[in-house]
Amino acid sequence: MSLKGKDFLSVNDLSVDEIYQIFDFAKILKAKQKAGEPHQLLKGKTLGMIFQKSSTRTRVSFEVGMWQLGGMALFLSSNDLQIGRGEPVKDTARVLSRYVDGIMIRTFSHLEVEELAEHATIPVINALTDLLHPCQAMADIFTALEHKGDLKGRKLCYIGDGNNMVNSLLHICAKVGMDISVATPVNYAPDATIVEQAAVSAKLSGSKITILDDPFAAAKDADVLYTDVWASMGKEGEQAIRKQAFAGFQINNAILQAAKKDTIVMHCLPAHRGEEISDDVIEGPNSVVFDEAENRLHVQKAIMALLMAD
Ligand code: CP
Ligand code: NVA
Repeated sequence: MSLKGKDFLSVNDLSVDEIYQIFDFAKILKAKQKAGEPHQLLKGKTLGMIFQKSSTRTRVSFEVGMWQLGGMALFLSSNDLQIGRGEPVKDTARVLSRYVDGIMIRTFSHLEVEELAEHATIPVINALTDLLHPCQAMADIFTALEHKGDLKGRKLCYIGDGNNMVNSLLHICAKVGMDISVATPVNYAPDATIVEQAAVSAKLSGSKITILDDPFAAAKDADVLYTDVWASMGKEGEQAIRKQAFAGFQINNAILQAAKKDTIVMHCLPAHRGEEISDDVIEGPNSVVFDEAENRLHVQKAIMALLMAD
């Protein structure tokens, strides 16, 4: 089992062993970082980071992560790259493969990332598409493991938009044997193909997947409550209509009461307080949102080292 040289495009591509290999390594790297022990596993290596959408966490955690691993990262805004002026993705892939050791990309179309990976001869890491956000889901479930001590048989409840975030959470929960209940307004359910993929993994792991439109039923006995913005990047034009459609799909104190007493509350951030989550809950004792944000760094360092180290 080796991740070396592979792409990281979707959690669905990983085996359960590979997911735990990343978690185990992230734990080691996190401890080394906290202890101030050097861990320059990517000395002399470079990562090209293509951004077609905004970012705070992803950009900073990948850039700092590469630095801590002894390498360097290049921030490549697609506004400035020739790709933004129509240079084919397949040409960009082959050119960058001659300069850098890995490519991280955040963009709209998931197909574009798959095309980039097909033509690149170096590992490509998906840092969010309209379809998936696998790095975030890995950091989230690593955080759940830290807080709960185990994953199998635990229940994650996602309330809100059936977007890239819940798609990757479906993939990972089904792989590791966590139950996942999703509550969205009827017209905003998760991608049907993703739900089918998760169902295949769930059969093997024993995870139970429930897709509902009732947030209270979904939250019942949850170990983890999760939400994300109602209008993702690219959907800003739908903000007003979505605000109406998602009324009632907020993680707040009433929802918290339906979950287990020691439930942890997660959000990938950035958050819109008063919309998908109430201010008192995101700031309250159950919230672990900043642990999640921190773990982006440690988990992505593990992913990069496993993919890119000699
Ligand atoms: N959670 C997340 O991916 O944050 P950014 O958009 O700030 O990178
Ligand atoms: N679903 C959100 C996640 C942001 C990290 C988006 O795509 O904008």
